[in-house]
Amino acid sequence: MYILGISAYYHDSAACLIKDGEIVAAAQEERFTRIKHDSGFPTNAIKYCLDEAGIEPRQLDYVAFYDKPFLKFERLLETYLAFAPRGFKSFAASMPVWIKEKLFQKYVIAKELTQILGKDVNWLEHLLFSEHHLSHAASAFFPSPFEEAAVLTMDGVGEWTTTSLAIGKGNSLKVTKEIHFPHSLGLLYSALTYYTGFKVNSGEYKVMGLAPYGEPTFVDKIKENLIDIKDDGSFQLDMSYFDYCTGLTMTNKRFDNLFGGPPRESEGELTQREMDLAASIQKITEEVVVKLARNVAKDTGQKNFCLAGGVALNCVANGILLRENIFDKIWIQPAAGDAGGALGAALGTYYIMLGKPRTSNGSMDAMRGSYLGPDFNSNDIKERLTRLGANFKELSDDELVNTTAQKLADGKAIGWMNGRMEFGPRALGGRSIIADPRSPSMQKLLNLKVKYRESFRPFAPSILREDVNKWFEIDGDSPYMLLVANVVESKRRTMSKEEQNLFGIDKLNVPRSEIPAITHVDYSARIQTVHKETNPRYHAVISRFKELTGCPVVVNTSFNVRGEPIVCTPDDAFRCFMGTELDVLVVGNMLLSKEEQASSLKEDYVEKYELD
Ligand SMILES: [Fe+2]
Repeated sequence: MYILGISAYYHDSAACLIKDGEIVAAAQEERFTRIKHDSGFPTNAIKYCLDEAGIEPRQLDYVAFYDKPFLKFERLLETYLAFAPRGFKSFAASMPVWIKEKLFQKYVIAKELTQILGKDVNWLEHLLFSEHHLSHAASAFFPSPFEEAAVLTMDGVGEWTTTSLAIGKGNSLKVTKEIHFPHSLGLLYSALTYYTGFKVNSGEYKVMGLAPYGEPTFVDKIKENLIDIKDDGSFQLDMSYFDYCTGLTMTNKRFDNLFGGPPRESEGELTQREMDLAASIQKITEEVVVKLARNVAKDTGQKNFCLAGGVALNCVANGILLRENIFDKIWIQPAAGDAGGALGAALGTYYIMLGKPRTSNGSMDAMRGSYLGPDFNSNDIKERLTRLGANFKELSDDELVNTTAQKLADGKAIGWMNGRMEFGPRALGGRSIIADPRSPSMQKLLNLKVKYRESFRPFAPSILREDVNKWFEIDGDSPYMLLVANVVESKRRTMSKEEQNLFGIDKLNVPRSEIPAITHVDYSARIQTVHKETNPRYHAVISRFKELTGCPVVVNTSFNVRGEPIVCTPDDAFRCFMGTELDVLVVGNMLLSKEEQASSLKEDYVEKYELD
């Protein structure tokens, strides 16, 4: 039985295919169209999923969409009524689109499917709709390694629900509690993201990275005015400070007055205020998440915990959750945002609607390391690189591992494309830029010469799973880079008095450990544990690097420039390689050195992408 899951029309459209409950393929549309967070119908991702499985459209039993259009419409209408006439502007702006597309979404989707997959099938008859948070919850529980678990989903806003608690058992998943729009932790975080001058829906990660520079001096002010947090973790926002129900911005004058002035301009200077605000909202997020988790543990007696929804990408809060020991085990869906809704919709159809049996083994999840996207064989890679005029060498498996590790040890920045592309926002060694984390200048160098941004965030480490507890204060799996932990004390370096007084990025440039490129100012790091079972080649490269240097860690940042979707094909990888100052490119078994490429192939590349 084949079920296609789709998420679209909000942000991060994606498609996913499951066969008898097993995940065969999943990918985000942005990787194919090269439009970041592409929200259009995932035409390319759907085609890819069917190709990967080698099936014809008529073999699809169901197509499941990740949310219910009518519920969303109802929310829009009721928000309008509740806030009228103040709400008229946003309502007027969104209505025409809603009437034309969203209200009749069923027909729109069926029409799209007919265009992509042909008219042999009446797609209306195969189309099902899940609910937004049920899709998130299903994506968090069904692929998890657990037979039973409590499930928390937190989001900006889906339909009505912004936070939901569910209990998963075998093939069942029941929602037990919900918090409704407009009361949303995700939107509060987004409001602060907007106010501190970052892009809503993508800058949340930057706010989290900025937080360690600040002091949480605004916590009381936020709690007294903006959010009322109850002991059980439930909360209410005071809507008189926000504009997302009624206007076209996130926050209003009243909000500005509370924090002493207008929002920071997007390219404006970062000041202590933004850093303190970031630290404060981060602290509040952690408080809510921990309280919700404690309450659900008490209520349900569950030992396992699953997380999804945009807020689940807050890996600092996840790390705290882990250290609080509220649950024995935690599993977080790597595609926690709306892209993962496609997966949840498909799995929900299979287990909840069709009642098919589900087995779990207690340790391994069903995500296959989240390597669920396109792969390219050697012939295809060679053909594509030749067509592009690239100069490359084909190496044996051993040669490739040895050479890559040696180049890392020599301080080279390497574009690394191997195996299937990752599903979810993080690069996990399928489409990554890798480098030596011991170098004190690597953070700066990669940012300025490869990513083309100044960043107050350090890079993330990939570490061999078997060595993680020797370098970080964590002894468990973090295969999806969704947990933060500190560098162990024996590898740290303390700052001098003068260094402590430095501000912003200057502070980050002071080495904090033996692996400075991945260590934040508070000694924290966003960890990816690398497992032999799911990515043997990446594991082998890091193992070889360890033999050469004694260090089982490499820098891992996504293979793209700022504002660009992560590379998908060998062509994308080559363009990014030639458009940046990467030294080496590895695609499958092909190795390319920058100095061996014709300089005429260099591209003016970075300017094509907007700042993210
Ligand atoms: Fe969502």
